[in-house]
Amino acid sequence: MAILETLNLSKSFGSLKAVAGLSFDVKEKEILAVVGPNGSGKTTLFNVISKVLNPDDGTVNFDGHRIDKLPSHRIAHLGLARTFQVPAYFKSMTVEEQVRLAAQFGGRNSHDPSATASESLAFVGLSDKAKTPADRLDIYGKKRLMMASAMAIKPKLMMLDEPLAGLNNQEVKEELGMVTKIRESGITVMIIEHNIRAIFSLADRTIVMHKGEKIAEGSPPEVSKNVQVVKVYLGEGYF
Ligand SMILES: Nc1ncnc2c1ncn2[C@@H]1O[C@H](COP(=O)(O)OP(=O)(O)O)[C@@H](O)[C@H]1O
Ligand SMILES: [Mg+2]
Repeated sequence: MAILETLNLSKSFGSLKAVAGLSFDVKEKEILAVVGPNGSGKTTLFNVISKVLNPDDGTVNFDGHRIDKLPSHRIAHLGLARTFQVPAYFKSMTVEEQVRLAAQFGGRNSHDPSATASESLAFVGLSDKAKTPADRLDIYGKKRLMMASAMAIKPKLMMLDEPLAGLNNQEVKEELGMVTKIRESGITVMIIEHNIRAIFSLADRTIVMHKGEKIAEGSPPEVSKNVQVVKVYLGEGYF
């Protein structure tokens, strides 16, 4: 069953079609990778689904609700969480305050925001940084903070925008472990990533974007053999 479904979703910036009539779905409990060259519209796709930006056209259904006309906080309340490519956080707040805020206002029935916050911090391994101001964290810390805030809303679908970018090998390993744990806890995952080897080792299915369109869809081995995908993105001899 699909938890998320888009039909003909479109978003232009002036004459540039960043997302051009995209239709796809995300099955419940799968890990779906979204890959493609820089500028192919991946982040814009996340932005129009989570309503950081309004789509120009098309529909989005999430968990039995049509969400493309809803404001982003309502979408979060329905259980759709996302992280950003560039860490987004409140500089002056501590790590714990920030995650508690997400639990309190972003979430689905969090009766005890403090408990939810500490669970989420433990989940990403940031419990020992609870009292640290967010802007003192390194890049990996900031990324984990964003993930903890997203987990604190108790999502059904987690959308991750380049979670591995800027991390060292050890951190990449840990982060992949976290994505695996997210899925094991019953959350569906949609993930934009350029680290193809890493993400293809994890994903059940992948869609490939190019110039706002979906040019391929299938299992990682299938799409990595696709002639057009090799041509516009992976290059010859990638695998
Ligand atoms: N807010 C914006 N205003 C104008 N152009 C944008 C905006 N956001 C993205 N774009 C353009 O839309 C295209 C797709 O960008 P983006 O979705 O960020 O791609 P990706 O995440 O695949 O690298 C790019 O050409 C980018 O420059
Ligand atoms: Mg992007």
